[in-house]
Amino acid sequence: MIKIAPSILSADFSCLGQEVAAVEKAGADWIHVDVMDGHFVPNLTIGPPVVKALRPISKLPLDCHLMISNPDQFIEAFAAAGADWISVHVEACTHLQRTLTRIRELGARPGVALNPHTPPESVAWVLGEVDYVLVMSVNPGFSGQAFIPSMVGKVARLKELIGQQGAEALIQVDGGIDDATIGAMYAAGARCFVSGSYLFGHPKGYAAAMALLRRNAEEG
Ligand code: DX5
Ligand code: ZN
Repeated sequence: MIKIAPSILSADFSCLGQEVAAVEKAGADWIHVDVMDGHFVPNLTIGPPVVKALRPISKLPLDCHLMISNPDQFIEAFAAAGADWISVHVEACTHLQRTLTRIRELGARPGVALNPHTPPESVAWVLGEVDYVLVMSVNPGFSGQAFIPSMVGKVARLKELIGQQGAEALIQVDGGIDDATIGAMYAAGARCFVSGSYLFGHPKGYAAAMALLRRNAEEG
């Protein structure tokens, strides 16, 4: 079973609540919330008040992807706002293990995210402490960018590292996921797929887009 996590960055922000309700009705598994600070990435998006506003709208897990330079200052606010899963970037955390432990103490599921140039071995010593590893298949900052094919090999290597340690971390992929790229990522070991522009822009609607993603993940 795979998980599809629509990224609300590609939703219509003028009616965000309705968009979240619509993707939930269409079969989404998680709601992916892209948090950007204009410093770690060259874009600004949303913060805890939006997560708080979405919390009563949906029963789905809210997955907050923190693309920010100082996650330690904000994880408490995101957890309090209702984030269920929180990922922080390895590149932004000096004391990564401490940050991940704190996320769990706050009652959320911790994850670690890697930029495309960051080697999978950089998270080897925290694989037993995370519930998921987020492999960026674009440079974070914007939706609608082109998928970086070499990230397939990175997912495979991560899967190997997770297996060697007997860990159970889920591999999530984010960036450029569509009906053409999802098969290779599934085959490499990813099981949670973030989708922004493909899903929200699909001419046949959200349910059809998710059905195509699910079919092509398992059929290649
Ligand atoms: C990029 C974000 C992604 C993005 C995905 O920095 O982390 O979640 O919204 O968008 P697509 O699927 O269009 O690449
Ligand atoms: Zn994201």
